Amino acid sequence: MKTSVVKGVSCFVPEKVVTNQQLSQMMDTTDEWITERTGIKERHMAERTSSTSDLGLKAAKNLLAKIQFPTQDIELIIAATVTPDYYFPGIGVQIQQGLGLSKIPAIDIRGQCSAFAWAITTAYVYLRSGFYKNALVIGSEIHSRMMEYSTRGRNFTVLFGDGAGAMLLESHQYPEGRATAHNHLRGVIDHEMGSDGSGAELLALKRPGFAKGHTEFFSVKEAEDGDDRPSMEGRQVFRNAVERMLQSANTILLRNGISVADIDLIIPHQANMRINESVREKLGVAPEKVFNNIQHYGNTTSATLPICMTEAEEQGRLKAGDLVLTLTFGSGFTWGANLIRW
Ligand code: UT7
Repeated sequence: MKTSVVKGVSCFVPEKVVTNQQLSQMMDTTDEWITERTGIKERHMAERTSSTSDLGLKAAKNLLAKIQFPTQDIELIIAATVTPDYYFPGIGVQIQQGLGLSKIPAIDIRGQCSAFAWAITTAYVYLRSGFYKNALVIGSEIHSRMMEYSTRGRNFTVLFGDGAGAMLLESHQYPEGRATAHNHLRGVIDHEMGSDGSGAELLALKRPGFAKGHTEFFSVKEAEDGDDRPSMEGRQVFRNAVERMLQSANTILLRNGISVADIDLIIPHQANMRINESVREKLGVAPEKVFNNIQHYGNTTSATLPICMTEAEEQGRLKAGDLVLTLTFGSGFTWGANLIRW
C-alpha cells in the first residue's frame, strides 16, 4: 500500500472585510452578541465579479506556484462547495478548465462543512490504491450571496464568510512501509467519516430544489417571499457538533493507539468558537494545541480546513513531521477527521 502525502496547502481569501459593526447597521445584532456567542469578529466577502470556482481556481494557482508543481502533472481534481456557480455541473470541471486541463477527472463532493476532510479521505483512498499519482483537493465558498442581510437572517448571516483553499496530495511508496502514528513517515495515516440523515432538516438550504410538494424548481412566489435562504436549529446543531467531533477524535486516538498528548495540532472546523472550546476542554488539551481563526473568517464551510492549515504553517504552528488531527461537523449531519503526519 502506498501512502498519500500532503505536498502543500494554500488558500485565497477575498480582500473585502465585513465587520460585526457593519452587520449591526444592517440588522438587529451587536458586536457583543456575535463575539460572545460565536467568537467571530469579521468575515471576508467576494466581489460581485468573482464566482466560487474563481476563488477555488485562485487558491489552486496559489498552491501550485507555492510548491512549484507543474499544472499539467495533476491527475485528479476533487472539489467541494455548498455554493456552486451552477446547480450543475459542479465547480470541479470549471476549476479544471481554468487550469487548462482537459481530460483528467474532476469530482465534486457534497459533504458540506465536512467536505474538505472527506475530500482528503477520497484522495487518500485513490492514491493509496495507486489509481492516481496525485490529487488536487479544493474547497471554495461564496456564502455571502445566499445570506439575508436583515434581522430575519441574522442567526445565519453573522456566522459565514467567503474563501477558498487547496491542497495537493501525492502518492508515495516508502521502502519502510506506510505512515503510521508510530513512525515518522509523512502522510495521511487514518480517517473517520460519518453521517446521520436524521439531522438533514436541521441545517439546510431547501429551496430551490426538486423536493416533493413542489411542481417547480423555484416559483415566482417563493422568490418574492425570499425562500432561497438556509435554515438552522442552532442549538441542536451545536450539541451534535460537539458530540460528533469528540467521538471522531476518540475513535482516531483509540484506533491508532495514541493519546491526545501525541497530537501536535488539532485543526477543528470553524463554526463556533464555543464548539471548539467545548471539544478542547473535553479532550483535555491546552489552547495552544488547537488552531482557531474563526475571529477573522467566520465559517467558510469547505474552505475552512485549508485556510486554517495555510495560516498555521505561516505562523509556525504546523511544521513538517507534526502529527495533525482535523475534526469537522456539518449539515447532513456529516462529520469527519483526518490523522496526518504533516
Ligand atoms: O457549519 C455547520 C455547523 N454549524 C454550527 O455548528 C452552528 C451551531 N450553532 C451555533 O453556533 C449557535 O447555536 C448560534 C451561534 C447559531 C446561536 O447561538 P445560541 O446561543 O444557540 O443562540 P439561540 O439560537 O438560542 O438564540 C438566542 C437568542 C434568540 O433570541 P430569544 O429567542 O432568546 O429572544 C435569537 O433570536 O439570540 C437571538 N439571536 C440573535 N441576537 C442578536 C440569534 N441570532 C442573533 C444575532 N444577533 N445575530
